[in-house]
Amino acid sequence: MNTVKILDKVFEPFITNETIDNAVEAIAQKMNQDLAGKDVVFVAILNGAFMFASDLFKKIDFSARITFVKMASYVGTSTSGSVKQLVGINEELKDKVVVIIEDIVDTGITIDLIIRQLKTYDPSEVRVASLLVKPEAMQKDVIVDYTGIEIPNRFIVGYGLDYNGYGRNLKEIFVLSETHN
Ligand code: IMP
Ligand code: MG
Repeated sequence: MNTVKILDKVFEPFITNETIDNAVEAIAQKMNQDLAGKDVVFVAILNGAFMFASDLFKKIDFSARITFVKMASYVGTSTSGSVKQLVGINEELKDKVVVIIEDIVDTGITIDLIIRQLKTYDPSEVRVASLLVKPEAMQKDVIVDYTGIEIPNRFIVGYGLDYNGYGRNLKEIFVLSETHN
């Protein structure tokens, strides 16, 4: 594999498609054991998690639902500044086991906010699945129940993840080059 250029930056090969597939498979197997028989709603976070959610959901062998939501920024009316709000929930989540599907947990600030907002729908349980986790960057007390791959605190693209909107279609994951930029 060669480097790729996205906008002004060069990225290097980092995680192969085979490694990604194995991580998705391992998460699916664990979920198939843990969650079979429960009333599960998967909540995939757009945009980044669309590819992971699709591959993961195909490997789920119990009956379950999936819905797609987005964190949208809006500017508060007072001094609060920019606030992020979960939009697009149109499923009944009350008493359901909600499993969040996220692409990456970096500082944990986003997932912490998502968990807190989903809990207002009164689910019986909220679990988190993230394909990628940057443990060194974590600032919140968030438990990721299903982690695919732990990575160092570096910027990556591909398999749904973007750099300024581009790079999501890459099948493998690339890391920002420390030598070429
Ligand atoms: P957090 O709130 O710091 O955990 O960041 C979460 C969000 O930042 C993720 O949902 C991604 O959209 C984005 N993000 C964090 N790290 C990366 C990265 O390395 N590449 C692309 N997006 C990232
Ligand atoms: Mg994201």
